[in-house]
Amino acid sequence: MSLPRNILITGASSGLGAGLALAYAAPNVHLILTGRDRGRIDAVAAQVRALGATASTGIIDVADAAAMQNFIAAQDRAHPIDLLIANAGITGGTAADGSLETLESARAVIDINLGGVLNSVIPVLPLMQARGHGHVALIGSVAGLRGLADSPAYCASKGGVRLYGESLRGAVAASGIKISVVAPGFFKSPMSVKFKGPQPFRLTLDQVVRGIKRGLDRGQARITLPWILGVLLRMADLLPPWLGDLIMGRVRFHIDPTAKPR
Ligand SMILES: NC(=O)c1ccc[n+]([C@@H]2O[C@H](COP(=O)([O-])OP(=O)(O)OC[C@H]3O[C@@H](n4cnc5c(N)ncnc54)[C@H](OP(=O)(O)O)[C@@H]3O)[C@@H](O)[C@H]2O)c1
Repeated sequence: MSLPRNILITGASSGLGAGLALAYAAPNVHLILTGRDRGRIDAVAAQVRALGATASTGIIDVADAAAMQNFIAAQDRAHPIDLLIANAGITGGTAADGSLETLESARAVIDINLGGVLNSVIPVLPLMQARGHGHVALIGSVAGLRGLADSPAYCASKGGVRLYGESLRGAVAASGIKISVVAPGFFKSPMSVKFKGPQPFRLTLDQVVRGIKRGLDRGQARITLPWILGVLLRMADLLPPWLGDLIMGRVRFHIDPTAKPR
């Protein structure tokens, strides 16, 4: 695959999105970086410029369909997007006292994690189709492979991202667009400090960034990191529900929305 020159990354102000922005930053590469925090997105833009790339930024909520559509159209006119990484996401789930997620928090998770992917991908597709090429990477999660008792809406959002991407691949293949469905397991980031409980097979941010970039450079349709966690969750999903629930019940956690990276 030829290397992408104009790359849009949503949720580039921290964690994985920022890590991928730095990994792609090089001379002759333009990065379009979005997030909601002006200070953090500007800091990432400054870092990618220091590595020789050019950058433009957008302070946009991915759940705002009209704002995403307008931003993508304007950016694409200046820098025709050849790689979109739809990465922005939030977590949610059981609270420290064991109470279930609220309707408000569940809706926010779906609107941002799944709705935000649609708002990022759908405006880009006709632009790529008109050019006859392009690459779209959807950042899901292994949590989209088998439900976890403590984060139903998050698992639903990531399961939705996975099936959306898997379906889209066939729909756009004839127009020269590649779709990569990315399913990371736990990795160290500002998001994962909020998970209070076991994080089996946790990767470093650097490991997950390198693994995803390698897979995208190869045009892989599916990127699951670490692969063993993907296999285990797929196997758990094949078990009778009572047995799957029993095994998954060993990985219980809660979400502390106030936890900050150390
Ligand atoms: N960390 C893990 O263990 C893990 C595992 C599997 C999958 N993932 C997925 O990987 C992706 C990146 O997660 P991360 O761990 O890097 O988390 P993170 O450090 O919290 O970064 C999340 C990014 O998404 C952006 N974002 C959140 N809500 C947004 C919204 N409404 N509009 C625009 N941008 C928004 C944030 O920007 P602002 O803060 O500026 O709003 C931030 O840049 C997510 O999709 C996540 O679900 C993470």
